[in-house]
Parts: sequence; structure tokens; C-alpha cells
Amino acid sequence: MNRPLVIGNWKMNLDYVEAVHLIQQIGVIVRNRPLEHVDLVVAPPFVDIRSVTSVVESERIALEVGAQHASVHDAGAHTGEVSVPMLQRLNVKWILVGHSERRAHYAMTDEVVAQTLRTVTRQGVHAVLCVGEELAVRNDEGHLDFVSAQLHAALEGLDEKSRPLVSVAYEPVWAIGTGLTASTEQVRDMTEHIRTVLASLSLEATRVLYGGSVNAENAASLMSEGRVDGFLVGGASLKAESFLAIGQAADDCYAGKR
Ligand code: 13P
Repeated sequence: MNRPLVIGNWKMNLDYVEAVHLIQQIGVIVRNRPLEHVDLVVAPPFVDIRSVTSVVESERIALEVGAQHASVHDAGAHTGEVSVPMLQRLNVKWILVGHSERRAHYAMTDEVVAQTLRTVTRQGVHAVLCVGEELAVRNDEGHLDFVSAQLHAALEGLDEKSRPLVSVAYEPVWAIGTGLTASTEQVRDMTEHIRTVLASLSLEATRVLYGGSVNAENAASLMSEGRVDGFLVGGASLKAESFLAIGQAADDCYAGKR
């Protein structure tokens, strides 16, 4: 089992004042109950990153800051976009690439996902590649092929230096924000499948996360029975207690307590 990675994706929630409040609450809990075996990351909206990073650094909170997206380009006439070098200057260490909401609503094609992933890793930043099928695809039993195709499109031919910087998050679209979590069997089958595909792409050491209505109650069983290396958490990452309860479940599981 890989060392767990737990990422809070705050999506388009919390202005910078609210974000500072949340990161301070997270800091207090982490200080009282450190997570020994978990890499913890929060991914706030772009406009909150500087404030969040300042708090993390000044209060020495044991986590790293991520971003939810980055431009495929490094600079230039791309109105509304934010580049990887800009994020790096803010000490961003992790960037989500190809979240299903970016793919579905902001025309992020497989090709752009692949190029963005390379833009991120070329700069030495960790890329979290998001994959996952819609409900209709699963109902037609096409989910394994669908996810294989997403993985191949994004990761084929990735250079050796970039490989250690990649993690994969399996987020079935039908489980995101719906309260409908994939069953531990569904998660285990898919993570095993993803690991087989990753091995065929020389990415056997890659961490495989699960995302989709993860909460403090289901995290432990998803981790142990679903055999994931961590979580990408949406809604439950907006409260310090529930986010860190998920981190604690990952920590306990890794330490062999469950
Ligand atoms: P929820 O945890 O709110 O279902 O969101 C999952 C997600 O999309 C994280 O990236």
C-alpha cells in the first residue's frame, strides 16, 4: 500500500476570508491530532490560494496547497486562465487535471487534459489526473473501457521524470456531490483495473485515489475494502472536522489499526 494522499477540493466555495477561517480550523485540529502517515492537501479557489498559503506557512500547518486547475499554456493571451508558473510562485505543489466538472462544462478534451498534465509535471508540480464515467456508461457496463481510454489518452508516452509526479483519482461522475457513493466492490474493481492499466504504462507506483461523496463515515471502508491510496474530497472538505476525520481514517488504515 502507498502512503495515503487526502486532498480537499473546495471547488468554487469560500471567499478568501472564509478560506482563512477554514485553514486556521484545520491547523488547530492537525496540531492537536497530527496525521503521521498521510499526505494532506487542500485545493482552494485561485483567489484564496495566497491567503491560505500564508496561514499554512506562518502557522507551520502540516499540509500542502494545491490548485483545482491550471492553463495548458505557460503565459500569454488566455483571458481568465491561470498558469502553472504563477501557481508555483504561490508555492502550489499539487494541481488537479481534468476534473469531470472541467471536462463536462469547460470543454476540456482528452487532448487538452494530456497536454495540461505535461505542462504541470514539466514544472515539477504534482498532477492529480481525474478520471471517471457517467452513469449511462456504467449502466451499459462500459466503465472499465471508458476509464482505460481516459488513462491511455492522458498518460501514454509520459517521460520518466514526470511519472513519479502523477496520481490518479477515480471519480465516477454519478457519485460526485450526489451522496451516492460507489460501493466498496465497485471501487475495488475499478482501482484494480486502473492499477493494471497504470502498470502497462510503466506507472505501477502511482497512487490511486477515490472521489465521490466521501465522508467521515464511509472513508475507512472505502480505504480498506476499496483498496484506494487516499481520497479526493469535495463537500466534506469544507468542514475541518469532517475533512480531518477522513484523513484520520486513512491514517488509521495505513497504520494497520483497521
Ligand atoms: P463530493 O465529495 O462533493 O462528492 O465531490 C467529489 C469531487 O468532485 C472531488 O473532486
